[in-house]
This record gives sequence, C-alpha cells and structure tokens, in this order.
Amino acid sequence: MLLFDQFFNDNDVQDAIDIILKRLEFYQHNIEGVKPANKDFETDFSNLIKLIESVRGSLFYPYLSSGFGKGPYVECADGSVKLDFISGIGVHWAHSDPAIIKASLKAAVHDSVMQGNLQQHRGSVDLYQRLREMSGLDHVFLTSSGVMGVENALKLCFQYKSPAKRILSFSNCFCGRTLAAASITDKPQYREGLPVVLPVDYIPFYDPKNPKESIQQSVDILHRYIKRYPNDYACMKFELIQGEGGFNVGSKEFFKALISCLKEADIPVYIDETQTFGRTTELFAFQLFDLQDDVDVVSIGKMSQVCATLYRKHLKPKPGLISQTFTSSTTAIEAANIILTKLASNDYFGNDGKIAQLHTYFINKLQDLAKKYPADISDFRGVGSMIAFKLFEGNYEESLLFIKTCYKNGLILFIAGNKPTYIRFLLPVGATNCNHIDEAIAIIEQSLGIIKEGASI
Ligand SMILES: Cc1ncc(COP(=O)(O)O)c(C=O)c1O
Repeated sequence: MLLFDQFFNDNDVQDAIDIILKRLEFYQHNIEGVKPANKDFETDFSNLIKLIESVRGSLFYPYLSSGFGKGPYVECADGSVKLDFISGIGVHWAHSDPAIIKASLKAAVHDSVMQGNLQQHRGSVDLYQRLREMSGLDHVFLTSSGVMGVENALKLCFQYKSPAKRILSFSNCFCGRTLAAASITDKPQYREGLPVVLPVDYIPFYDPKNPKESIQQSVDILHRYIKRYPNDYACMKFELIQGEGGFNVGSKEFFKALISCLKEADIPVYIDETQTFGRTTELFAFQLFDLQDDVDVVSIGKMSQVCATLYRKHLKPKPGLISQTFTSSTTAIEAANIILTKLASNDYFGNDGKIAQLHTYFINKLQDLAKKYPADISDFRGVGSMIAFKLFEGNYEESLLFIKTCYKNGLILFIAGNKPTYIRFLLPVGATNCNHIDEAIAIIEQSLGIIKEGASI
C-alpha cells in the first residue's frame, strides 16, 4: 500500500476524523434557525468590518462568517445566524456540510495545499474523469476561476478559427472580469475606463412574450452579422439562462435555430455554464435544452468549486496555448468530487428531482405572497435553484434597500439584472428544504413591511 494510503487509513487518523465529525454534529445542534447578533461580539465585529473596509475599499454586506454553519445557515462573526439563499453567488453547496468537511480533512493531510498543471494528485484524476463522463465532451481543462474557464474557452475557439478576430454573444450577457470578459459583458459600467480588447456582435436574447418573432429576429440579425464578417467569428458564446442579466431563460427552439445558422457557417458553439452548472433540473443546462450534440465547448464554475473548460477533440489546442500554475486547491478538488458524486445520485435532477421540487415550492410560496401584495411582488423567473422576482417596479435603489433589509433580518440575497433589477436567489441545494423556504418567505414579508413603512438602512 502507498504510504499516503497507509497513513490516511491508519486507525488513529480515521478515529481523529470521526471525532471531529461527531463534535461538528454536536455543535451544529445549536443552530436551529436565524438568530440576531450577540452584543458580546459587537465591538470586535465592528473593528473587523472597519479593518476589512479600509483595506479592501468597500463591502457590499458587513458579512464575516465565523467559519461555522449548518446547511443553509451560517454563523457570522457578530454571533448572528443567517439563512444564506445566495450561496456566495452560487458557490456554496451547504455550510459546514459533514461530507465536505470530511473531504477537506483528507485534503488537509495531503503533501501540498495546491494542485497544478505540472504536478497533480490522484483526486485530480477522479475529477477529470467525472467531468468528462458527465458532460459527454472529450477533454477537460481545470482552472481556479470562472473567468479563466471563459478565457480558455475563447482561446481554444480563436486558435481553431484563426485568423478570426470577432465573437458573437447575447445582449445583456455577463462574462466575468478580465479585459476580454469585460469587453464581452454587455454592461457599460463594468468596462468603464477599460479598452475594448475583443470585437463582439450582440444578438438579442429570447423574448418569451413573443417567441416566434423573437426567434426570427435573432436569426435574421445573426445571418446579417455572418454575412457582414464572413469567416471572422471564433465562436458564439451562449448563456442559456442569463444569470447576472436577470435570470432570463431561453428556449430549445430559440437556441436550436441560432445553432443551425452557426453550424452552417462552421462557427463553434460555446456555452458558458459558470452560473447554471448544477442549478437547473439537469447537471448541465445544455442537457436541459437538449443541446448535447450541438455544443463544442463549455465552461463551468461556482458550484463545481473547481472551474473548468470542457471541449471536443477538434478544439484541442496546440501546446502552450492554455496552461497556468494552479488547477485549484487540494481541498476544492476533493470537495468538487463529493459534490459531483452527490449530484450524480439521481436525487437532484429531472422533473421530480429535489431541485425541481424546491423550485416549485418556492415559486408557489412567492405566488401566495404576490396574492397578498399584488403591487409589490411579481415577474417570477428562473429555473431550478436559480429564482428571481421583481420588487415593485424593479427600481435598483428600492431593490437594494430590500435585500439589505432582508440581510439585517437574517436572510442573505442578492440582485440581478438592470432596468428592471430583480431580487435573486441561488439556493444552497445540498441542504435546503421546505422549512427553510418558509423561514425565508417570512423574512421577505417582514422586510417588505419594513421598507413599505419607509424605513431606511
Ligand atoms: C456566466 C458567467 N460567466 C463567467 C463568470 C465569471 O466567474 P468568476 O467570477 O468565478 O470569475 C460568471 C460569474 O458570475 C458568470 O455568471
């Protein structure tokens, strides 16, 4: 047996891990729901927040976790317990999940904190293999941020289509924070002061209110661009459900119509699943829209913990095009393996899976609220654990005030979209149940009452 296996399977080491997990369970009994801050921690907490604010520049929420949690609940450093329905913008499976802590303990006794492209461990091989099998694509390149997954996908497409210089994407899309990604993201505030380093042509996204016209209009515009710039497109980048853009959901017919034009012009189909991976009623949103035979390259992130670019053989890059020091931390890779194993268990996906059930329950509860407050809550949208609604008329300042009021009352949310702004939820699917949703709905109603009375935060 290898020394690592002898060491890790040593009875004393396994007992130590069991003890930690038992003590975790013991202390988790103290978390039963949302709890306000504790005065004893007020001064320390406020000093830490002031410190981080002064070093970092600004903070959206005065959020500092203590490092402890239970499912969708997180203990903050002010002693409060909050219900986390945004999951670090789609990242957390659950707080202090015992299986992930166990995997992290295994990672912690590995020889190195980080894994890389030059040197990797056996757990990395598991992850490569899992992602390849689950996606049906040929190759997987791991990376440590969503936007690097995007950059790598774009590079593969540019090399394949060289000397093409342009790309296509959707109006209102989001892509990440590098210079190339900021050039693609369709939001001027996110590239203020930056040079545009990539020429991008935008196709209008699907309009569910006018399906036929919307498909025809987008196909016509795509044809016009392809004619205007023949052989000059490296790819079209798709977000099948626009995340930052406001949880706009496309349709199979819409995507198929565009993809048919792209295939005719030999333009690769790149699907950015940084936000949608593991969040819809299928593991990949491209499976939900039945695009598995159409996709050439996909990037994933957030819930996968380790980000990745997955691609078909014909896009295989020449040596030197993509590489970087880190693939990810050993802990993130071991945690990713646990999350993917859980997701592969069949409990989560499909029309009767856990994600679909949570979605239906949440939407029904929001609809009940909307019946009570018809002028205040409307326009529910999203798929699976991506859920959003419009507050009042979708005004940015009011939406911001609302989510900050919810935060004060113990529920963590975020916003999405621009004119209108939506109230956004990304549920921690690994741990959420209907009782948690009931608790969230009560906080939403309470917070709505507070801001309607004209309170300011
Ligand atoms: C669709 C999409 N692409 C890319 C990114 C960038 O990911 P990261 O912030 O991990 O770099 C995001 C992040 O929200 C995203 O939603």
